[in-house]
Amino acid sequence: MKITDLLPTPQVSTAVHDAASVDAAMLSRYSNRAFLPKPVDRALLQSLLQVAARAPSGTNTQPWKVYVLQGASRDALVDKVVAAHDALAADPSLAAQYREEYDYYPEKWVSPYIDRRRECGFGLYGVLGLGKGDKAGMHAQHQRNYRFFDAPVGLMFTMDKVMGRGSLLDYGMFLQNIMLAARARGLHTCPQAAWNGFAKIILPHIGAGDEEMLVCGMSMGYADEGALVNTFATTRVDAQDFTSWLE
Ligand SMILES: Cc1cc2nc3c(=O)[nH]c(=O)nc-3n(C[C@H](O)[C@H](O)[C@H](O)COP(=O)(O)O)c2cc1C
Repeated sequence: MKITDLLPTPQVSTAVHDAASVDAAMLSRYSNRAFLPKPVDRALLQSLLQVAARAPSGTNTQPWKVYVLQGASRDALVDKVVAAHDALAADPSLAAQYREEYDYYPEKWVSPYIDRRRECGFGLYGVLGLGKGDKAGMHAQHQRNYRFFDAPVGLMFTMDKVMGRGSLLDYGMFLQNIMLAARARGLHTCPQAAWNGFAKIILPHIGAGDEEMLVCGMSMGYADEGALVNTFATTRVDAQDFTSWLE
């Protein structure tokens, strides 16, 4: 199916009657960190990506490139990155080899972002009963990132290095579209910057060209609803506290 076949005509007069469903997709999206091994139908993944591609981008540049990893290719990447993550923990001097291709986080953390980051980290580890000193437990939990939290589908997102910072803005909209379209199909997701440091392992594994850089990864699949980690819910600042009304 071509992407234009999906469009309601005319777009301009298409009413979205059901605010509740749109809101439910947004409100039920959270970072799911335990998945069932249940495979995801390929046609479903294709339709989800096709719809998500309607995301806007500056001058319609559509800077995204997606790699879907399942089965042996997924498992082999997991093995490689888990081994690298273990080696890094054993010898932190290896960190110099693993550089992120763009700064996702600030070099210097300031309030209130550092406070929110801490709340998120402590909250997650708190739910899991992991104390601050439990290095092995934290390493194991962090490593679950590199197992796609057991999701059968791993996604890797790249873009051309020649593109500007604005393309990352476009990319964010595309990623959110994917996560909402996933919700509409009974799937859950976890976007993951954790992979970014291992780009030099990931890019050759997925067959990316020299001109591509890794934007992030994502786990996708059916949630393990009984998993303790999935009871962790993050907070948000109220809209009234980040909005200024100017009249
Ligand atoms: C681009 C991006 C990268 C992220 N990377 C990771 C990651 O590597 N591992 C992880 O567990 N969560 C990751 N997260 C999830 C955030 O921690 C999460 O979105 C935030 O705490 C809000 O919680 P919620 O998604 O459950 O609403 C990432 C989120 C985004 C948007």
